[in-house]
Amino acid sequence: MFATRTNWEFSSNRLVLLHDSLKKKNEEIIDLTQSNPTECGFYYPEEEIVKALSNSSNLVYSPSSKGMLSARKIVSGYYKDKGYEVDPENIFLTSSTSEGYLFLFRLLADPGDKILFPSPSYPLFEVLTQLNDLELVPYPLKYDQWSLDKTVFDELSGGAKAIVAVNPNNPTGSFVEDDDLQIINDACSKIEASIICDEVFLDYSFEDNAKPNSLVGNKMNLTFVLGGLSKALGMPQMKLAWIVVNGPDRLVKEAKKRLEIIADTFLSVNIPSQNALEKWMQCRSVIQKDIFKRVRENKETLRSMISGNNKFKMLDAKGGWYSVLRLPGSVDEEEFCYELLREKKVFVHPGYFFDFSEGSHIVVSLLPQKRMFEEGLKAFCSQ
Ligand SMILES: Cc1ncc(COP(=O)(O)O)c(C=O)c1O
Repeated sequence: MFATRTNWEFSSNRLVLLHDSLKKKNEEIIDLTQSNPTECGFYYPEEEIVKALSNSSNLVYSPSSKGMLSARKIVSGYYKDKGYEVDPENIFLTSSTSEGYLFLFRLLADPGDKILFPSPSYPLFEVLTQLNDLELVPYPLKYDQWSLDKTVFDELSGGAKAIVAVNPNNPTGSFVEDDDLQIINDACSKIEASIICDEVFLDYSFEDNAKPNSLVGNKMNLTFVLGGLSKALGMPQMKLAWIVVNGPDRLVKEAKKRLEIIADTFLSVNIPSQNALEKWMQCRSVIQKDIFKRVRENKETLRSMISGNNKFKMLDAKGGWYSVLRLPGSVDEEEFCYELLREKKVFVHPGYFFDFSEGSHIVVSLLPQKRMFEEGLKAFCSQ
């Protein structure tokens, strides 16, 4: 009856089962996996955000395959603020970054083709490739510095249609540095693959003077950059994201022609969000200020609370909303997370959730409110 691509393993592991059973019993859980910014008590200029939706133009359906030009110009302005020139004609609006991936996979790859993804990274990618009948091929990010292993890319001999980079990466917080980009560009040129760069966390660096470079200016290969409001404004519910197409002119022209048909088939971005985008983007610095403050303060709290505790090593990171802690090799990460939840009702993600292949890790969200965050840390420091 059902497609084999949906033959997922539905049974939950014991950590998830425990979490669900505690929830069912209404037990209070300190959730250090929180990733939904709208539930973290951040300041949102409510009046401006809501007022922007009260627009009589929302009563008119004005479909456009790439999204409304007025909204694409605002996205172009977002990059201009960062010093990049992006032609609004090279921007496609989508309802989410995940949908952006879907459009690009339909554009670039046939069933069975390979897509390279960084590992560790965000677990969404596995399902996205499955849903598109593609093969996910992980490439390792090596700590120290989360650098790329050039030999992995030198050994590529075709078959891959795209190399995905995540900048900054979730959860490692690493940037695509110039050296990394060189390796990816060389590999893509050699095997005629495209680059898909997921930049949803682009605005979030831990230091003001160390920001990631966007790949919207990468001309060497056909490059698609993904961004969106889910992180840029901390508003995933508004369902507005984008793809920027860039690279050699001939390929960009061809990609846009094809992508337009895909986007036109769905016309998935709602008109009210597009009309509100200009006003919402004006709230960006106010919203981000609060998120920055929280994330940076929590990171410092985490650093100071684990200093002197030789059970945890905080791995270097440059941006994003997460911190990765390494546990001693003798500690089983799942057992650690399970006991922490069972005994102290504190929920953290084990490294395998993000496809850490070596060592023992836990991943902590830096979004939770101060009191809850500190309580959670105290609990796991004494575990
Ligand atoms: C790296 C990364 N890419 C994409 C997404 C999904 O973003 P969206 O809500 O725009 O689909 C997430 C969500 O957390 C993410 O961490």
